Amino acid sequence: MRQTILTGDRPTGPLHLGHYAGSLAARVELQRSHATYILIADLQALTDHADRPEEIRRNVIEVALDYLAVGIDPAVSTIVVQSGVPELAELTGYFLNLVTVARLERNPTVKEEIRHKGFGSEIPAGFLVYPVSQAADITAFKAHLVPVGADQVPMIEQTVEIVRRFNRLYGAILVEPEAVVPRISRLPGIDGRSKMSKSLGNAIYLSDLPDVIGDKVMRMYTDPRHARVEDPGQVEGNVVFTYLDAFDPDRAGLEKLKERYREGGVGDVALKHHLIDVLHDLLAPIRARRQDLGRHPEEILRVLQDGTARGRAVAQATVAEARRAMHLDYQRVP
Ligand code: TRP
Repeated sequence: MRQTILTGDRPTGPLHLGHYAGSLAARVELQRSHATYILIADLQALTDHADRPEEIRRNVIEVALDYLAVGIDPAVSTIVVQSGVPELAELTGYFLNLVTVARLERNPTVKEEIRHKGFGSEIPAGFLVYPVSQAADITAFKAHLVPVGADQVPMIEQTVEIVRRFNRLYGAILVEPEAVVPRISRLPGIDGRSKMSKSLGNAIYLSDLPDVIGDKVMRMYTDPRHARVEDPGQVEGNVVFTYLDAFDPDRAGLEKLKERYREGGVGDVALKHHLIDVLHDLLAPIRARRQDLGRHPEEILRVLQDGTARGRAVAQATVAEARRAMHLDYQRVP
């Protein structure tokens, strides 16, 4: 039997290279050998953007455009809009009884996000429990595999705990998922300090125009001690090399370049021009497809409506099973 994949993204902005390295590329690669569901998690986006629903609605379309542009094929992958599947909220409700508040507060990704977003003592309750709704996303589709960046691994761990508890209490209905983490799963931002993110303004978007990409690469953090071309340079922690590691298809050439950089003799400007070329080769076809697709918004809507309807049917079947297992079936003749 083919295994099932589920992943998703919050539609808080267009997708960037971090998304590509972290999971988009893996989805494109796996979509033909697996039953693939890709969730545009607009409800999850509301957990920290409750005041900006129009922006999220707009970004649902942007994210869908990004998906199709990178090669997610709606003929084999099912793209689902989370808010179109109310059964996910229902399942979240059941799961909330299976986790403690203390466990939620220990989730390292949520902890970091809370610090990052500066919620202070004003943490929206929905935000604290979003890992539970993510567990519902994953289990409603009975996913075996979840391709995600390293920061999402705690979510899968928490999902596994919920699945075990559910199956022990009510019967073995749900599937224990496994995270699929790619080789480079946490791409730093162009500042080199933390992961690429819209809120930090350090991201390169799949839809960025060539001169914007050029500008951003030129501002990238390299090795501050590599002042002159002939100085030996450091490859580790050098953002340009991290990106080349992620995207340069010429692996042997890259190893040689690293050697030469370490010895001294490769300037940062030349190095950056190489990265600009590599990113151009990767992004030019994606950008072109995105522009084409952008001219047919009705096509995008049709893809989302179809995918959401198909996805909803799967989630409905799982939730019906869960209700029966939980004796929430008062209508059944005893
Ligand atoms: N939390 C993910 C992110 O921030 C998005 C997401 C929502 C997701 N539901 C999911 C990822 C289910 C994997 C599986 O990008």
